[in-house]
Amino acid sequence: MNIFLIGFMGSGKSHWAKVWAEKENLSFYDLDTEIENAFGTSIADIFEKEGEEKFRELERYHLRIFQNKKNFILACGGGTPCFSDNMQWMQEHGKVIYLKATPELLLKQVMHETEQRPIIKKVNPSELLFFIQKKLQEREPFYSQADIIINTADANENTISGFLSS
Ligand code: S3P
Repeated sequence: MNIFLIGFMGSGKSHWAKVWAEKENLSFYDLDTEIENAFGTSIADIFEKEGEEKFRELERYHLRIFQNKKNFILACGGGTPCFSDNMQWMQEHGKVIYLKATPELLLKQVMHETEQRPIIKKVNPSELLFFIQKKLQEREPFYSQADIIINTADANENTISGFLSS
């Protein structure tokens, strides 16, 4: 069983991927961490020095390395399913789970960490909620193609057990 966990920044992908991987005896990976380890620097640095286009290329490349892995949960980046043909690729190589959250909850999760998050780093704090609402609306058509949609607010350590056994 291979699981790709998608969702907006701050939806809890890394947290729940870790919890569920342990519960279901799967290996846990984080796509941003894979990229950072391979490139030897932070995502924020890659965006700043190389630009978003280069980052999306790296993201596409490192996602495809999972073709050779089995029994994992991969916490993707917030933009992963929205670029290239990543969404289709993930669906061909496992189950895609979307962790859905309201813009208000996402704002609460990211508002104190904007420095490490290049997509929102330059957004004026007073406009952050509006920015999240707009970006989420843009990305929802990709996210909603997921095989399974889970409301972050309802997530607990047993949430995916039922889906995996069916
Ligand atoms: C991004 C989300 C980030 C990271 C990069 C771009 C996005 O991942 O991949 O900063 O486009 O939403 P997280 O969702 O894990 O923060």
